Amino acid sequence: MGSFVPAAALLVCPCCGPRPCAAARIQQLNQRPIIGVLAQENLPGDQFARGSSYIAASYVKYLEAAGARVVPIRINRTEEEYAKIFSSINGLLLPGGDVDIQTSEFTRAARIFYNLALKANDAGDYFPVWGTCQGFQQLSVLTCNKNLLTLTDTRAVALPLTLTPAAQSSRLFRSFPKDLLQSLAEENITSNFHKWSLSTQNYSRNAKLKRFYKVLSTNTDGKKEFISTMEAYRYPFYAVQWHPEKSPFEWIDKPGMVHSTTAVRVCFSTASFFVSEAMKSHHRFPSPTDEDRALIYNFCPVYRGTDSVFVQNYYFD
Ligand SMILES: *[C@@H]1O[C@H](CO)[C@@H](O)[C@H](O)[C@H]1NC(C)=O
Ligand SMILES: *[C@@H]1O[C@H](CO)[C@@H](O)[C@H](O)[C@H]1NC(C)=O
Ligand SMILES: *[C@@H]1O[C@H](CO)[C@@H](O)[C@H](O)[C@H]1NC(C)=O
Repeated sequence: MGSFVPAAALLVCPCCGPRPCAAARIQQLNQRPIIGVLAQENLPGDQFARGSSYIAASYVKYLEAAGARVVPIRINRTEEEYAKIFSSINGLLLPGGDVDIQTSEFTRAARIFYNLALKANDAGDYFPVWGTCQGFQQLSVLTCNKNLLTLTDTRAVALPLTLTPAAQSSRLFRSFPKDLLQSLAEENITSNFHKWSLSTQNYSRNAKLKRFYKVLSTNTDGKKEFISTMEAYRYPFYAVQWHPEKSPFEWIDKPGMVHSTTAVRVCFSTASFFVSEAMKSHHRFPSPTDEDRALIYNFCPVYRGTDSVFVQNYYFD
């Protein structure tokens, strides 16, 4: 297969001779990116559940629609297994959900990957991480080693983003069409389904969070202002408290759900940006067979009804 040309053959770089340099690796984009999506403990009382963990299919479709393939990362695996997966994938997505973000197996795996990603990026090995909703919250806990979240009244509401001055020049939003950024700022098109939030106050008072993340947007529930979008200063890490993936792929009929053309375009723009980040990573599976065996195509999603919070889930042992 064409994708398994030895790395050195692709990366002869005039600046440093036969040894590949970081700049050349990034210029040479990986057109076959594979992104890991982390599973989590089943929702309590999920009548469709098979096995012990799941991934909502909307996150898989979200990445696939933007040109990536997906590998499920199952919970409850050894550090060695996670390290092997890490060196095979080009990015990590931490999805939304409902687990304990300090004690769950989801958190344990997220922490292992987070630390691997810090180390890799520090060594010039580009590896992007994206957190959505619970994934946003999980990243905040991993960065400052504390749960600084507070309850907000944001369980089912669509909000326009209050963009900060930093948004315009951010890596994430700079990649958006101008009209879309304007829609994001003016229209109620970001779906919020969370009761916990990182308040602007707690973010500002925590030196670790403040040094690590640049705030790109905030929102309020009327009483507390919270951070709705952020990106790390020095790492390709991105976090949204809202749900871009729901607009095209989830159909539960309740307040906060938005299916407008602009909301769907916003979904695609976030995914497309993240996939373009994953294209800068050159991790790969040891062989095409290993890659085949790991891909989500080996699993079938289960239809749970359009009236459930996730219309289809993948389940894992
Ligand atoms: C994790 O593994 C342990 C021991 O193998 C098992 O008891 C537990 O049920 C597993 N948890 C999940 C969520 O799979
Ligand atoms: C700040 O974080 C603490 C947890 O350490 C939490 O109890 C509190 O509600 C938070 N306050 C605000 C305003 O976010
Ligand atoms: C639209 O957003 C505003 C905040 O700017 C919020 O107060 C309002 O509840 C939202 N409306 C809907 C229908 O979600």
